[in-house]
Amino acid sequence: MSVTSRHSRIIRLACGALALCVSLSAAAGERQSGGPYVPTPPAIVDAMLDLARVGPRDFVVDLGSGDGRIVLAAAQKYRASGFGVDIDAELVDQSNAAARRLGVTDRVRFRQQDMFATDVSRATVLTLYLLPSMMQSLQPKLLKELQPGTRIVSHDFDFGDWKPDRKIEVQTPEKYDTSGAWVSTVNLWIVPAAIDGAWSGEGGAFRLSIKQRYQRFEGSVTRNGQTARLRGGRIEGTRIRFAAPRGDGAGRELYTGTVKDARIAGEVRGEGSAVVARWSATRVR
Ligand SMILES: C[S@@+](CC[C@H](N)C(=O)[O-])C[C@H]1O[C@@H](n2cnc3c(N)ncnc32)[C@H](O)[C@@H]1O
Repeated sequence: MSVTSRHSRIIRLACGALALCVSLSAAAGERQSGGPYVPTPPAIVDAMLDLARVGPRDFVVDLGSGDGRIVLAAAQKYRASGFGVDIDAELVDQSNAAARRLGVTDRVRFRQQDMFATDVSRATVLTLYLLPSMMQSLQPKLLKELQPGTRIVSHDFDFGDWKPDRKIEVQTPEKYDTSGAWVSTVNLWIVPAAIDGAWSGEGGAFRLSIKQRYQRFEGSVTRNGQTARLRGGRIEGTRIRFAAPRGDGAGRELYTGTVKDARIAGEVRGEGSAVVARWSATRVR
């Protein structure tokens, strides 16, 4: 059997067995499990922290933190702060002992807690190595609690229809206690600001109607009773951009802006023009 098919088989077996546990637990009204303890290999920990560009100002949260290796590496190598939670008390004790050994207890902490009962709103970087079903279940909580611009990095598994902003492959010589040529995936999402709804341009000059789907949006702009479609709508954290036909119909205008609470403010220029004007809009719905 090739290494790749052996890898796929191990993942399928693990996921199959765990999916059964998850449905049995759910049926019994118990907490949902993100899966058993399987550590992320060091090369993948480094790739996750690099892809998220972790630095000293970051607060890194690992949900299902195992032996604490991701938060500990963030604190040791990048001087970040943060915490990890795990349901396994022994792993939590082991993680706090490692934090003491490494002299980082002033910046990191581990506690025994169900990840669904964990407030993640302080995270600037959130790390995950969990079963696909758990990723899906967590997604609404993360979109609700995390600030726009927060980076989420995952090892191997993703959020289904919420596609990552970036994705890289990392080769590792060892995984699941088995040596070989393993190829792992590291995904990065940047939590987008929530802009779905209706916005009114300053002084009522125009109206934007936005239909958002994660980091992309479509919609329309209405000016002087004329409605035209927006094109290429993208959101990266709090930064948005889109194109709209000019009011006089001659070419397009390119809008960029920053979302803050119920206001978007930024710049607009005609395509191919260096002339820049300011624009802003407030949420009306
Ligand atoms: C695949 S391991 C990942 C460990 C670590 N994040 C890493 O990458 O090395 C998943 C961890 O999630 C923990 N876990 C599973 N369900 C959980 C839950 N509902 N709340 C908190 N931790 C959970 C498990 O005990 C396990 O340690």
